[in-house]
Amino acid sequence: MARTLVAAVAALVALMPARAGEWALALHGGAGVIERGRFAPGEEEAIRQALGRALERGRAILASGGTAVDAVEAVVVALEAAPQFNAGVGAALTSAGTTELDAAIMDGATRRAAAVTGVMTTESPVRLARKLMETGPHVFLAGAAADAFARAHGLPQVENGHFITPARRRMLEEIQKGGASAAFDLTLRFGTVGAVARDQAGNLAAATSTGGLTGKAPGRIGDSPIIGAGTVAENGACAVSATGSGEIFIRARAAGQICDRIRFGGQSAEAAANAVIADIGSLGGDGGVIVVDANGEVVFAMNAPGMYRAAVTSRSAPVVHIYADE
Ligand code: GLY
Repeated sequence: MARTLVAAVAALVALMPARAGEWALALHGGAGVIERGRFAPGEEEAIRQALGRALERGRAILASGGTAVDAVEAVVVALEAAPQFNAGVGAALTSAGTTELDAAIMDGATRRAAAVTGVMTTESPVRLARKLMETGPHVFLAGAAADAFARAHGLPQVENGHFITPARRRMLEEIQKGGASAAFDLTLRFGTVGAVARDQAGNLAAATSTGGLTGKAPGRIGDSPIIGAGTVAENGACAVSATGSGEIFIRARAAGQICDRIRFGGQSAEAAANAVIADIGSLGGDGGVIVVDANGEVVFAMNAPGMYRAAVTSRSAPVVHIYADE
């Protein structure tokens, strides 16, 4: 993938203090080599509609005074159910041909957070993370213990095959034959879904869910469920959800670094997001981030040709974008 910084930062709302009652929401469905002309007929429109439906779930919650945590959870649940994205149904396969799902959620008001990794039978990993955050005392559960926690709390269970789509199986086969990148959008290799929000009370939240990397070793954990790498929310700073080459996002402490640049460095969300994406690139990583700051400013930043993304605020109409230059 190109290492050049494609730029692609969209500040959707002018940097001005948010007034009481204002809210903002952004989501992503993965970044990568997403270029015009690569889609099958109807595929691009189906992706845009799925992004728009997920956005509407969160918009309805925020517009009616709901919390940022409820909004990001609802958006990610919707994206997990959409087979186009690498999370829940349609998740990337491990080298063993199974899915091992990761998710995290964080409440910026309290800095409570929870994450799960290696989930194999819980229908919605982000709902599981939310349940763990509400229940405590632990912040991170793995594998069979995470699924057992979900069962004990009445969360719907499915066979692991429920998550596996023909497209993801073909992707694994191509990768195992050694020819994947030519034939497939790299988003299929390391996509992720996520959402960030600021609610009417000014509270921030973030959530991320992923199948990880196609062909990953069983047990591999990416950035998505690591608080401060792929997911973070801190009132007064920002909420971030990342997508991309997880190992690099972990090494860059990507999400936490963005909030630290805002909180301690006095940078704008746009400057902080761009700096961290440049840092990711310097380490050889690819991907993108969505950020909402304490003022409700929404920023997308990426170093890839495209990122499935959408946003809406109390001051701006919904937008759904795919390509970096949109
Ligand atoms: N960014 C998702 C992963 O690497 O697992």
